[in-house]
Amino acid sequence: MQFDVRRFPVVTSTMDVARDLAEQGAPEGLVVVADEQTAGRGRVGRAWYSPPGQSLYLSLLLRPALHPRRISWLTMIGALTILDCISQFSILSSQLSIKWFNDVSLNGRKLAGVLVEASFVADRLDYGILGIGLNVNTRFADAPEEVRRRATSLREAFGREFDRDVVLDRLLAAFGARYGRLPASPLADYVGHLETLGRPVRLCAGDEIIEGTAVRVEEDGALVVMTAAGERVAAFGEVVSE
Ligand code: BTN
Repeated sequence: MQFDVRRFPVVTSTMDVARDLAEQGAPEGLVVVADEQTAGRGRVGRAWYSPPGQSLYLSLLLRPALHPRRISWLTMIGALTILDCISQFSILSSQLSIKWFNDVSLNGRKLAGVLVEASFVADRLDYGILGIGLNVNTRFADAPEEVRRRATSLREAFGREFDRDVVLDRLLAAFGARYGRLPASPLADYVGHLETLGRPVRLCAGDEIIEGTAVRVEEDGALVVMTAAGERVAAFGEVVSE
């Protein structure tokens, strides 16, 4: 895949810039990278801590021939891409894992997040934007308490600074390889790195909280939870505690 990398010093969110360019007809492979985001966002309306000059914030514009019910595959590919990239930096694969649905953890702390936003025309996917936030050299001293408690960065884990351009190059190469495997499903690889299965979970799905043991991920990305009553419930949402 050919990448057209566009760099910006400050944006609200790379998702916004990528969407504007997508609406203007930009082709697949466009990559919006920002040094800072003033309104970086995550799933379920969360903010993404995006201080200047420390981390990678990027959005990739994709136009895959993917059934709308398979849109979650882009999130899976995004998470796997981060693992592929980070595991090149002499790290044990056991230190890295994916927390359903879109979190990449390093030593049990959140290193990166993936956000997919999509646009559909009739029942066809027009484009998907894959956003990746990767804590490279992030310093969390000024971060909100919730972020300080849960997050980590490559700098923190390795005790040294990383060149963000090198990480970006590797990330894009890893993405190209993963994306090139479509239309094959990424689900088996994704599940292979998932820390969530077999664990007790509280899955917050809209207004509903489903408690039980996470047993499976459906092809469309839904988490299947076995409740204490022995019922299997498949839902999307947020695993709020384990
Ligand atoms: C999450 O963990 O909920 C997903 C976080 C995704 C953050 C990235 S940073 C680049 C892109 N721009 C955004 O505003 N969000 C994504």
